Amino acid sequence: MIEKKPGVQILGTGAYFPSKVLTNSDLEKIVNTSDEWITSRTGIETRRISDSDIPTSELAFRASIEALNTAKLTTKQLDLILVATITPDMLFPSTACLLQRRLGAKGIPSFDLAAACSGFIYGISIARSFIQSGLYKTILLVGAEELSKITDWTDRTTCVLFGDGAGAMVLTASSYKENSILSTFLGADGDYSNLLYVPAGGTLHPTTNETVVKKMHTIKMEGKQVFKMAVLKMVYAAKKAIELSGLQIKDIKLFIPHQANIRIIKAVAEKLGISMQQVFINIYKTGNISSATTITALDEAIKTGKIKKGDIVELISFGSGFTWGATVIQL
Ligand code: UT7
Repeated sequence: MIEKKPGVQILGTGAYFPSKVLTNSDLEKIVNTSDEWITSRTGIETRRISDSDIPTSELAFRASIEALNTAKLTTKQLDLILVATITPDMLFPSTACLLQRRLGAKGIPSFDLAAACSGFIYGISIARSFIQSGLYKTILLVGAEELSKITDWTDRTTCVLFGDGAGAMVLTASSYKENSILSTFLGADGDYSNLLYVPAGGTLHPTTNETVVKKMHTIKMEGKQVFKMAVLKMVYAAKKAIELSGLQIKDIKLFIPHQANIRIIKAVAEKLGISMQQVFINIYKTGNISSATTITALDEAIKTGKIKKGDIVELISFGSGFTWGATVIQL
């Protein structure tokens, strides 16, 4: 039986990408790679890259303004700000606090959450719980990343994959009838923490000349192993969230998976028994933007009319940790 808790309505979404485009042919000039390899192995053709003096909080701010405008709300109506990111402006204060200052939303609680590429789905689950508990009524949830700034631009196995961007969502308490969040499902397994990580800059390896020289402040990944687990866990999370929603795969109008690799997405679709027509793809122009992937894809799907009010959509993600998660939403 599906429990009838208070509703949580999505009032609006927004997205922002830096204007600078980095193409595969640009990358051919930086590392030993080819457009053919990148396109066929990943599905990525271009990605957006931030200027060196623009921090993650700025992308978060631009996406948030768009989400607030769509929701027809002002910052004064927010009760909480949550930012999912693994590329914060600095270790502390949180990017959420920096965003709060930028928005002029003084006083409301604000914090970051780090669940890597699953960050936005973790955030939906947290926002939903806060709203359903009655603690906060209206929440701004953001997924914002500048992965270009933690990328080793001499490592062809990773530098072709990542990009920058931000997405935002405004959620508010509603009647059960207007409820948008039908289910959320989260998981993690820290046994795999050494397969996708940034080794230094924290307390394990504080910054020294050596950590800089050894490039320990950039993303390290065992691609093949991550690939296999990504497929397994995204399929698992997708099924669990659908089960928790009380619906079936056939009820989902559009699947929005984490955009890490087109081959992962195709494998997930095949295992779920769905056609690629039901799957939203924008990886070719964004690359992997970690916590910002699912929300920017959802925003694009809404703004381009691919989905409309009443449609049921599933967001699915997987990332470092490992973490995974899925959520079934009704627009
Ligand atoms: O967001 C969190 C989740 N992240 C992911 O899900 C990423 C998961 N992993 C992947 O997407 C893929 O594993 C990669 C795209 C990273 C790599 O694709 P792959 O099919 O697993 O390739 P591979 O690592 O097995 O490499 C195949 C070959 C190797 O050469 P040899 O050893 O066969 O001679 C690599 O050195 O391709 C080579 N290679 C490249 N060649 C040209 C690796 N990167 C490149 C490159 N350009 N950029």
